[in-house]
Amino acid sequence: MVVRIGKKARSIMERDHKIIMTTTRGSSRFVVGRGDGDFAYDVDGNKFIDFSTFVSVYNLGVNANREIRSAVKGQVDKMMHAAFTDYYSELPVTFAENLVSMMPDGFGKVFYSNSGTEAIEAALKFSRTFTKRQYALAFYGGFHGRTMGSLSLTASKSVHKEGFGPFNSALHAPYAYCYRCPFGKEYPGCGMACVDYIKKYTLGKEASGKEVSAIFMEPVQGEGGYVVPPKEFVEGVRDIADENGILLVADEVQSGYMRTGKFLALDNFGVKADIYAMAKAVGGGLPLGVTVTRKSLGDIPAGSHANTFGGNLAAIAAADASLSYLKRNQTSIQKGIRKRSAAIIGRLEEMKERYEILGDVRGLGLMIGAEFVKDKKTKEPAVRERERIIEECFDNGLLLLPAGTSTIRIIPPLTVSIESLEKGLDILENAVKAVSGD
Ligand SMILES: Cc1ncc(COP(=O)(O)O)c(C=O)c1O
Repeated sequence: MVVRIGKKARSIMERDHKIIMTTTRGSSRFVVGRGDGDFAYDVDGNKFIDFSTFVSVYNLGVNANREIRSAVKGQVDKMMHAAFTDYYSELPVTFAENLVSMMPDGFGKVFYSNSGTEAIEAALKFSRTFTKRQYALAFYGGFHGRTMGSLSLTASKSVHKEGFGPFNSALHAPYAYCYRCPFGKEYPGCGMACVDYIKKYTLGKEASGKEVSAIFMEPVQGEGGYVVPPKEFVEGVRDIADENGILLVADEVQSGYMRTGKFLALDNFGVKADIYAMAKAVGGGLPLGVTVTRKSLGDIPAGSHANTFGGNLAAIAAADASLSYLKRNQTSIQKGIRKRSAAIIGRLEEMKERYEILGDVRGLGLMIGAEFVKDKKTKEPAVRERERIIEECFDNGLLLLPAGTSTIRIIPPLTVSIESLEKGLDILENAVKAVSGD
């Protein structure tokens, strides 16, 4: 064990428990001090390799990079908040132009907010007003946020919804979680039963396709367990949308911004959405939500949807500096992602052979999940073991986050050095070995 929780951390945790309402922390003992590149340090100076990007935010290194930080500092000295919904300013326009240049052709109405849930709320409201239809369809395992509209779509853990209903008119269908196929079938011989289900049951029996405004889909499910669907599923969902005049909303809040090796995760499947929702990494470390619609959908009435802080200049300065860096270094960053992705997946696959509790390894680019099971045959989720692995890694200087019932997400900065990556994987393997007893 290399990490020793010090006095400062203990005292902050105690004070926190007395005053702070609800969080998702679970058993984490990390009390932040500072961050730098591949590393995060706690208040007592303990050093950690970061495989969490602080929930998929720091794609260009912990606490962003020097270029992003200095853009924020410069903007803060000029003007922080500029009431972008009431007054004009140039930077949010420039950033919108830069962002749209990374997206498929034909996109170009950009709406700013402050978080992922707001980016989804906007997509939900826009799709209703564009189509004049009331329902929205989303998937089991999907996470779209926790405000009432987005929460109606979220279906990854019932605790998120318990006691908060009633909800908006949302429909849910099974996602293509092939490791645990809801239909008990095996890909590719399954005939895409999950796509058929939507046609036969959701739209055949529950609500007419004519009344559904949008299908909300994470191209790779994040909170639900880092689930990568087959291409045919994503194509099938796009076809269903087209056949019924339904809009497809890609929730790229977690999967976007080059995390999967492409700017938009949906691009990995050769499919385009009608609306994209982004947040997390797009803000370069500051709070920003962005909803981008297909130009041909038009505009929504002036004043009908807005928020005070959307387009905040400090947040947009971070976002624009981050995007400029990403664009300038796109080729090398993408090459780096491919190399790092292959190294992680290769190592995890070897571990899967060695340890009974590592049941499944899946991912795209640097959005990688390792799912733990008590037994490879029964696939019973190894919930407590997954927690113990995360804790053991923490004790040895590696920050990790869970996803789904028994998955660990491996989402280092896209720019992580090979040395840090290998050290982190060594810590992870030692933890898996210790917990599995193999
Ligand atoms: C795919 C997805 N959509 C939406 C959200 C909600 O984002 P926020 O927490 O910024 O509201 C999240 C957050 O984890 C997410 O992963």
